Amino acid sequence: TSSPIYIATVSAPTNIACIKYWGKADAHYNTPTNDSVSVTLDQADLKAVTTVAASASFTNDRLWLNGVEEDVSQNKRFRACIDGVKALAKEPERWKDLFVHVSSYNTFPTAAGLASSAAGYAALVAALAELMDAQEEYVGQLSTIARQGSGSACRSLYGGFVAWKQGTAAGNKSPWDNSMAVQIATEQHWPEIRALILVVSDAKKDTSSTAGMSTSVATSTLLQHRIKSVVPERMEAIEKAFLAKDFEAFGQLTMKDSNSFHAVCMDTYPPIFYMNDISRMVVRIVHAYNAWAGDIRAAYTFDAGPNAVLYTLEQYAVEIGALMLHYFPADSENYINRSDYANEVAAFE
Ligand code: PMV
Repeated sequence: TSSPIYIATVSAPTNIACIKYWGKADAHYNTPTNDSVSVTLDQADLKAVTTVAASASFTNDRLWLNGVEEDVSQNKRFRACIDGVKALAKEPERWKDLFVHVSSYNTFPTAAGLASSAAGYAALVAALAELMDAQEEYVGQLSTIARQGSGSACRSLYGGFVAWKQGTAAGNKSPWDNSMAVQIATEQHWPEIRALILVVSDAKKDTSSTAGMSTSVATSTLLQHRIKSVVPERMEAIEKAFLAKDFEAFGQLTMKDSNSFHAVCMDTYPPIFYMNDISRMVVRIVHAYNAWAGDIRAAYTFDAGPNAVLYTLEQYAVEIGALMLHYFPADSENYINRSDYANEVAAFE
C-alpha cells in the first residue's frame, strides 16, 4: 500500500522595514543588535506561496524555489524551521520521522532587496504550522522559528505594523526565545497607507544581508552609535506616529532611518553600496515633491538593494505614481544619464 501525502498551502506577504534591522547579536540564533519595525504588505502582489507535503514515502527533505530544486542538505536555516515547527506539532509523534517536500513561488524578484526571504520563510513556517497543527506555547513563538530562517521573516507572520523585539540572550525558557515579532497595530488600523514599489533593478544583490551585517558589526563605529543612540528613540517615536496616523512623523522617521542604514553601509569597511544613481535620484525627487507639497506625502526607504519603496497615503498614490513615471518612463535606461535629465530633476528642486 502507498503512504498518504499530507499537504498544506499558505501564502505570506513581504514586509518593508521603516526602522531597519542591520547587525546580528548572535549568528547562531539569528538575533539582531537592535529592534526593528515594518509594515506588512497585503497579499495582492509581493508574496510567497508555499506548499508543504509530508509523507512516509519521502526519503529526504527537499525544496523547490520557483520550480527549481535547491540543495538543502546543508541548509541550517531550512533545517531550523522544519525542526522548530515539528517540536510544536500537536501530535509530535505523527510527524517526527516524516520528511517534507516544499515548493515555494515568489511573485517578485528573489534577493533583489525586496525581502523575498522574509515572505518565503514566513510562508514556510506558517505552512508547516498549518500542516502539523502547531501549538504555540506563548504568543509569538512561531515568529522565533521564522526568525531563524531569515530575521525579517518573523515580522511577516503578522499583518499591519509589526515590531521585532531584539530579545535577550537569557530568554525566558531558552536563549533568545523572546526575540520575536509583536504586532503594534493591525492592518485595519491605518487602511489608507500605501507602498509603491519601484523596481530599479531585478538583479540579485552582490552582498547578502548576512555577509553585509557581519562586516558592518566588525568594522562600523557608526553602527554602534546607531544601535545605542539612534534606534531606541526612533522605535518609540515611530510606534507613536503609526498609532496616531501621523504620516508626517512616520514618513520622516522612515526616510531618516533608511538613510542611517545606508550611511552605516558606507561606514562599513570595505563599504557596501546598495543604492545606485537611480535610487539617489528617487530620493531627490521625493524631497522635491514634499517641498512642493509643503507637507510629507511620500517617504522612501531602501533595503539591501537599489529598489525603492515609497510609503504614501491612498489620496496621493496616483499622483506619486504619475510623478515617478514622468521621471522614469519605460525607456528611462536610455536617457537617464543625459545631462538634460539631471537638469530637469534639478529644475523641480
Ligand atoms: O532578514 P534579512 O537577513 O534578509 O535582513 C533584512 C535586512 C533589511 O531588509 C535591510 C532590513 C529589515 O529590517 O528588513
